[in-house]
Amino acid sequence: MRLLFLAVLRPHTGNAVTAERIRDHLEAAGHVCILKDTLDFESSTEITDLITAEKVEAALALHLYRAGRLLQGHRIPFGVIFGGTDVNEDVHQEGKNAVMEKVLEEARFAVAFTESMKESAQAQWPQAKGKIYVQSQGIVTTPNATFSWNTFLQRAEISQSADNLHVFLLICGLRQVKDPLYLVDAFSAWHREEPSVYLVIVGPEVDPGFTREVKAKVERSAGVRLVGEMAREDLHEVVKNCFALVNSSLSEGMSAAILEAMDLEVPVLARDIPGNAAVVTHEVTGLLFSDPQEFVKLAKRLLGDPVLERDIVANGREYVRTHHSWQTERTTYQSLVWRLGGPQSPCEP
Ligand SMILES: *[C@@H]1O[C@H](CO)[C@@H](O)[C@H](O)[C@H]1NC(C)=O
Ligand SMILES: *[C@@H]1O[C@H](CO)[C@@H](O)[C@H](O)[C@H]1NC(C)=O
Repeated sequence: MRLLFLAVLRPHTGNAVTAERIRDHLEAAGHVCILKDTLDFESSTEITDLITAEKVEAALALHLYRAGRLLQGHRIPFGVIFGGTDVNEDVHQEGKNAVMEKVLEEARFAVAFTESMKESAQAQWPQAKGKIYVQSQGIVTTPNATFSWNTFLQRAEISQSADNLHVFLLICGLRQVKDPLYLVDAFSAWHREEPSVYLVIVGPEVDPGFTREVKAKVERSAGVRLVGEMAREDLHEVVKNCFALVNSSLSEGMSAAILEAMDLEVPVLARDIPGNAAVVTHEVTGLLFSDPQEFVKLAKRLLGDPVLERDIVANGREYVRTHHSWQTERTTYQSLVWRLGGPQSPCEP
């Protein structure tokens, strides 16, 4: 089939990565999948033109409100995938809620990433019951084995001999909401007493003003470094080599970086917020902290307790392979999309 896949593809967002992964699943099944950014369209007519020009037979949208609504009324069958903002934010606005209800009515199927997302969607739109499937995000990591850890250390201006180094990695777009500076003071104080530990913040400079603020702060903080954006494959190689992955942000949603670290067998230290607590069980698949002092306490414990480290890594890997299987995700999307090809039929989730 020739499929149009609409999503919000702003760079450096989890959305773009998710959309590309799902496109790969569909192309692997022999479909042609035309992935487009919703922001490139100003009107529904432009979508009509694209559908005609590209001979589109069916469509998929990631985000009911932002993308799904553009697919309405074109008389091509489509499926939708709930985005975080659909069920966390847009649902509370009357106008947007009504639009999403109509989109759901017309869609042949809808995918939620989690059971709780499905439940809140069903509570909101009971008519959609029976149409909503749960498929968690599949995790796939592709470390670039030719990218060297030493190159990374050079970029981070860390000159210690690699043996006794302990690099804590924070992967983070430089935006206020991601709170990249949350641990900096506490970490720096710890570094002064334990010079083998470093905190390296890696991420694209999303917000220039805020980036300046982060740079200035990092320059004043011993043991803390900032490294710019890196290719995904290189970053995976770096994650594989670091001592632990850190997540300190307050934002909602699920952190792909955490799941990828688990897949790469690296321990995770994450701030205790709902999105993180959903994937990290304290002392089982990772460690959860509530403030910077607790972070340092747990990080010290992890350093001194190889058994804890080994267990967390094993459990984390098991968790990702069981609950975020890329293969299962592939099978689900391939079979859902086949239904867009035939006549409308009631389907059983
Ligand atoms: C992997 O790393 C090497 C060495 O830094 C680089 O030349 C190459 O482009 C990287 N490959 C990918 C896929 O990022
Ligand atoms: C940290 O985790 C939260 C929730 O899981 C996620 O939304 C956020 O993007 C992550 N932030 C970083 C810096 O990894």
